[in-house]
Amino acid sequence: MKILGVSGSPIKDSNTDRALKIALGASGVKTEFIKLSDYNIQPCTACLECRKTNSCILKDDGNLLMNKAYKADALIVAGFTPYSSIDSRTKIFLERLYPLHHSHALMSGKPGAAIVTSAIQQGHEGILSASENGISAIQNYMIAESMVFIGGVSILGNVPCLACDAKDQCGVSALKMLFGKDATPNNVAINSVENDPEAVATLEKLGTDIVEAYYNQ
Ligand SMILES: Cc1cc2nc3c(=O)[nH]c(=O)nc-3n(C[C@H](O)[C@H](O)[C@H](O)COP(=O)(O)O)c2cc1C
Repeated sequence: MKILGVSGSPIKDSNTDRALKIALGASGVKTEFIKLSDYNIQPCTACLECRKTNSCILKDDGNLLMNKAYKADALIVAGFTPYSSIDSRTKIFLERLYPLHHSHALMSGKPGAAIVTSAIQQGHEGILSASENGISAIQNYMIAESMVFIGGVSILGNVPCLACDAKDQCGVSALKMLFGKDATPNNVAINSVENDPEAVATLEKLGTDIVEAYYNQ
């Protein structure tokens, strides 16, 4: 059995990447990790040429990635949530799997799972939590392709403002929005997935659950 893990995060060795690697590592089977920012993929143009050929006419890395998903026995898609939606690379990747839709449902029956990193989690008054949105974007792809959705894991990431030195000049600081008016990059802790034992355990379980789902089908 082989699991393909795809990360939409462009940040080097990000929480999203590391969370995905925890799940892949726990699976105990063959895995491949893909970072979408290392590839050139454009969005689907909805030309529907792929319905005849199960292949895309765009001359980029879309067909290469699609073939990796086709050859894998299971798929874990990991993204993050700019403006509370799934990130654009992850979205483009899912769109570019469309050639596998026609007409044979080539992803059908494969176990799939989602991992989504977001900075704003449940419980912040007046701010929408993004993780559910991100997970459902990936889950909806898997439902539409008749895959077996195993589950989605939400990971707490970091606001980009932690890396910004605008300090008090910024009128839209997510740091102040989330942690109060005195929050600065110096007094807000950086979240690392490895420091959250519950998240690590949930990711490891996702890794073993997806293998179990494959062998039990
Ligand atoms: C342009 C941009 C917009 C963002 N907007 C949101 C948001 O609306 N909600 C949220 O929870 N996180 C938001 N984030 C934060 C990311 O979700 C967060 O940085 C995530 O942890 C990134 O994961 P990474 O560490 O794996 O790269 C935004 C990040 C960027 C770069």
